[in-house]
Amino acid sequence: MQTVRLAAALFFFSSVLLLSAQSASGSYPRAQNVTWKSTNFKTILAWEPKPSAEYSYTVEFSKVGGDKQRKPHCIRSSGTVCDLSSSLTELDAYYTADVLSEPPLGANSDLTEFPYTSSPRFCPYKETDIGKPDFKLEVSEDKKKTTLYVTDPLTALFKDGSQLNIRDIFSDQLQYRVTYRKNKSTGKKVHDAKTNVIELTGLDRGESYCFYIQAYIPSRSVDKQLGEVSQTQCSNDDSKSILEVYSVGVIAAAIFLILLLVGLIIAVSVICCRRRRKALKSGKEGLPLRDV
Ligand SMILES: *[C@@H]1O[C@H](CO)[C@@H](O)[C@H](O)[C@H]1NC(C)=O
Ligand SMILES: *[C@@H]1O[C@H](CO)[C@@H](O)[C@H](O)[C@H]1NC(C)=O
Repeated sequence: MQTVRLAAALFFFSSVLLLSAQSASGSYPRAQNVTWKSTNFKTILAWEPKPSAEYSYTVEFSKVGGDKQRKPHCIRSSGTVCDLSSSLTELDAYYTADVLSEPPLGANSDLTEFPYTSSPRFCPYKETDIGKPDFKLEVSEDKKKTTLYVTDPLTALFKDGSQLNIRDIFSDQLQYRVTYRKNKSTGKKVHDAKTNVIELTGLDRGESYCFYIQAYIPSRSVDKQLGEVSQTQCSNDDSKSILEVYSVGVIAAAIFLILLLVGLIIAVSVICCRRRRKALKSGKEGLPLRDV
């Protein structure tokens, strides 16, 4: 009697579970691997797999705790990405998004609830990756000072029609990290700078150094502090610089002058010698013979 009742109860509960699972997953497969991909505030929600002709995806996003919104481009689409850059307007808020599996555009369904997958939370200000910056390298004429001129990467954000760069967004939170080494060595040194014009003064004169830079935002969590690294640029060393510093014409003129000088010295000394020898000879001849 007990076992029968238990079995009945088990059967009942498992059918309820099965039914609810079925109605929750509906007739369409759920999106998988829903992730945020964001660089320089260009923020894209991506998921898998590509839908069959039988269904489509719709994205609903919201500030955490806020009202759900949709973007026309991301309603019943057959794509697997949704660009939300211009929709995440509060940069320091956290957002989440659901990817719903719905009937294809134009098709109807009796279902009112569709299966969906939720994204992780995402905060643009704290989590967007920072792309590689660009810089110009300049060594002062006396070789004492090396200066890097950094260009801030542009973002996907606009204000009053003009495109904002990362300095516009992060202002004094943004620093740049310079990593450099002597061209001949592998030992690296790091210099953090708060401005876009970075002067390095302690470098060995006449050495070639190689530099790369990356954005550095110390206020972020450790894994999001450093941006993508720039290309590496090296300064010239001095050993081969005679040809670069002086033009060919100047060098030719210098060689000509030196040859002229040598020729002159030779000519003068030859003439002098001759005269002296003559003078000696005539002197000898003209001298009275002392030892006689
Ligand atoms: C989701 O990601 C995992 C791990 O990267 C991968 O093995 C899996 O195939 C992905 N799912 C789909 C539907 O592509
Ligand atoms: C740096 O070193 C590499 C190899 O050692 C060399 O090819 C390159 O020309 C050097 N760069 C400068 C600017 O001296």
